[in-house]
Amino acid sequence: MHVTVFGANGQTGHEIVKQLLQRGHTMTAAVRRPSTVQPLDGVTVCKIDLSDQPSVLATVQGSDAVISALGSGALRSARKKTSLYSDSARAIRAAMRQLDVKKLIVLSSSGVDEEENAPFFYNCIIRRFLMNTYIDMARMETILSESDDLEWTSVRLSYLVECGSKPYKVYDTSIDSSTFRIGFKDAANFVANEVKERKCMRKMATIAYP
Ligand SMILES: NC(=O)c1ccc[n+]([C@@H]2O[C@H](COP(=O)([O-])OP(=O)(O)OC[C@H]3O[C@@H](n4cnc5c(N)ncnc54)[C@H](OP(=O)(O)O)[C@@H]3O)[C@@H](O)[C@H]2O)c1
Repeated sequence: MHVTVFGANGQTGHEIVKQLLQRGHTMTAAVRRPSTVQPLDGVTVCKIDLSDQPSVLATVQGSDAVISALGSGALRSARKKTSLYSDSARAIRAAMRQLDVKKLIVLSSSGVDEEENAPFFYNCIIRRFLMNTYIDMARMETILSESDDLEWTSVRLSYLVECGSKPYKVYDTSIDSSTFRIGFKDAANFVANEVKERKCMRKMATIAYP
């Protein structure tokens, strides 16, 4: 398959690209700074401007699936309002509809829904700090839930950590005290598998270590 990965130079995006290549897919790495993408066989780098619909359309052209690993750099600009997630979801959806591309996977967060069982420090500190990001991720997920013509999945990541691969679980609910972390490699593993397997089609799937 040919997959377009938006945010391919981000921490998770880069890992997703590597794992898709290992599975034999080819890719378009859609980034705003092409010089930040390591040249790899099977990966075409495409400079994008998300506010310019023709540039999004040209990037998605020829794809069998699209992944958005875009992020607002939450900790750097957590308190600022963002519309990155919802604006990019609209722009990507419009391009996919025009080109009749069906499969879309986006990265979201397990913090989008408030969970009573989440750890105290998470609910009282981290969640409040990241509220503007979660608000726009929720808008993005609403856009997806209203897109019955697309085979979408929203991958709700828990706190991303550097670690080796280990068994993880997919949860229907959001975060609670036992589900708080996921490694970059395992997050990318789930996304790369989901491109073909579609086990979580039209779902919000939280992934975390049990
Ligand atoms: N880190 C965590 O613990 C955590 C937990 C749960 C969920 N998440 C979510 O998981 C996703 C991936 O996280 P990450 O840590 O891998 O993100 P990251 O390293 O910050 O990467 C974000 C990517 O988005 C791109 N981007 C941002 N604004 C853009 C714009 N206007 N146009 C084009 N590209 C743009 C960045 O490109 P540039 O390099 O050009 O800025 C970068 O490639 C994010 O949505 C994040 O909110 C993260």
